Amino acid sequence: MRPRRFPRTTLTVMTAVTAAALLGAASWAAVAGAARAPDGSALRTIMREMGRDMQVVTDGIAREDWALVAKTAPRLADHRQPPLAEKMRVLGFLGNDAGAFRQHDARTKQAAQALGQAAQRRDGEAVIASFATLQRSCLACHQRFRQPFVEHFRGQP
Ligand code: HEC
Repeated sequence: MRPRRFPRTTLTVMTAVTAAALLGAASWAAVAGAARAPDGSALRTIMREMGRDMQVVTDGIAREDWALVAKTAPRLADHRQPPLAEKMRVLGFLGNDAGAFRQHDARTKQAAQALGQAAQRRDGEAVIASFATLQRSCLACHQRFRQPFVEHFRGQP
């Protein structure tokens, strides 16, 4: 157990409890337990789905299958959400960074919507440009948050 982990964990529990109090949800005990749970696994599953959808889009671009791109883009824009308990853990962990995290997610959504619209217009250049913007939006969130998530929820440095 590395000592520098303590304040973070304490903060997580406190923030999660505050969030629960604000939402009027769940008992304190349940929330404190959830905050200590070992992983953020639904998020990871959702991310893997997004990774696969990006591959489908790449394939669609290569084949100029704009219908396939147009069909796949909304899956990226409106990706699934983790269940409430996991969201609470994530919010508790993020603390003051929750706004920045949401903003990254909103940029991804925006870029995926632009991608879908370009594909509907069958505008190959615009599809590629918005796909690049989309990839940058994934990268930006990963560069800031991936490592801390992996360390915190899975204990892997
Ligand atoms: C709002 C932040 C955010 C955005 C935006 C985001 N991700 Fe992620 N992503 C994460 C975090 C956090 C992890 C690490 C989760 C973990 O490993 O527990 C991650 C992990 C991943 C992984 C690795 C999953 C694994 O098997 O370990 C893939 C693949 C992925 N994201 C794909 C994407 C794609 C594609 C996009 C854009 C279309 C995207 N993500 C946008 C936060 C984000």
